[in-house]
Amino acid sequence: MQQRPRRNRKSEAVREMVRETRLPLSSLMYPLFMIDGENQCSPIHSMPGISRWSADRLIDEIAECVSLGLRSFVLFPAFADSLKDTEATLSSDPSNFYLQSIRAIKARFPEVILMSDVAMDPYSSDGHDGLVRNGEIVNDETLPILARMAVAQAEAGIDIIGPSDMMDGRVGFIRKALDEAGYTGVSIMSYTAKYASAFYGPFRDALDSAPRSGDKKSYQMDPANRKEALREAVLDEAEGADMLMVKPALCYLDVILKLSENSVLPIAAYNVSGEYAMLKAAGINGWIDYERAVKECLLSIHRAGANIILTYFAKEYATWYHADKG
Ligand code: PBG
Repeated sequence: MQQRPRRNRKSEAVREMVRETRLPLSSLMYPLFMIDGENQCSPIHSMPGISRWSADRLIDEIAECVSLGLRSFVLFPAFADSLKDTEATLSSDPSNFYLQSIRAIKARFPEVILMSDVAMDPYSSDGHDGLVRNGEIVNDETLPILARMAVAQAEAGIDIIGPSDMMDGRVGFIRKALDEAGYTGVSIMSYTAKYASAFYGPFRDALDSAPRSGDKKSYQMDPANRKEALREAVLDEAEGADMLMVKPALCYLDVILKLSENSVLPIAAYNVSGEYAMLKAAGINGWIDYERAVKECLLSIHRAGANIILTYFAKEYATWYHADKG
């Protein structure tokens, strides 16, 4: 035999030398859920290990994550139903606790990267990402609401705006609004290929943000489609996005690969709540080697072409990362 591929696997030292993919902590973004109040930490039952934090407690949590080597965070607010309305008015009110908390976190940790979510659902009494008129999710009337929300977030000090709403033309619309308000340095990571997925269930529990009627299939993408992701990518690039995201991650590795091969922009993937919950449940029950399975999943997302991974595993991964190096 001339070729014996096993020679490159003969010891850990050799395997490490020929390893093609490594996942550094700098690639990870840690999503965090926020609630109003003081000294609050409310666990999310469908996401064991993940909680909703009030700003004061969140600051301690971020400090711990920063000491573990994480430096990017994605912030999601949970608002009381009584504050929601059809126009998501609260989303651009500078006195809302989310914008206030962003200010406080940024003041305490100027060096960390903070990303927001731009969509109407956490603020909307309809629970949809866009404006609902006669049962339809209307596109163009939604855009100014999203733009106001994005500008208010930029004003509060957010570094990256994450439009997750999947309305047509929103990236360009938001980019223009940010620039006109003087926020030319605020980035946009577009949820470019966001699929109408069953894997967002635990997230919607966490924020109590499920649609009150209907589903999100008229704006989020059909899981059967891959070429369409390329169409969305071309549009987002042209509209001024800085980074493109695929969401969810694990069922969509082919989409991540396709975008990474066809775009000059950095590609991110969102390893979503349902993907977290599945592994966590199997781990808690002892049905799987949790640490190895999580590392394998994150590495696979990275191998497929995502330089940036938004994942609820970020903090645990950071702990393991240091133990592996030690
Ligand atoms: C809101 C939004 C969702 C997620 C991120 N932003 C839910 C949805 O679209 O229904 C899901 C994230 C996750 O499941 O971890 N637009």
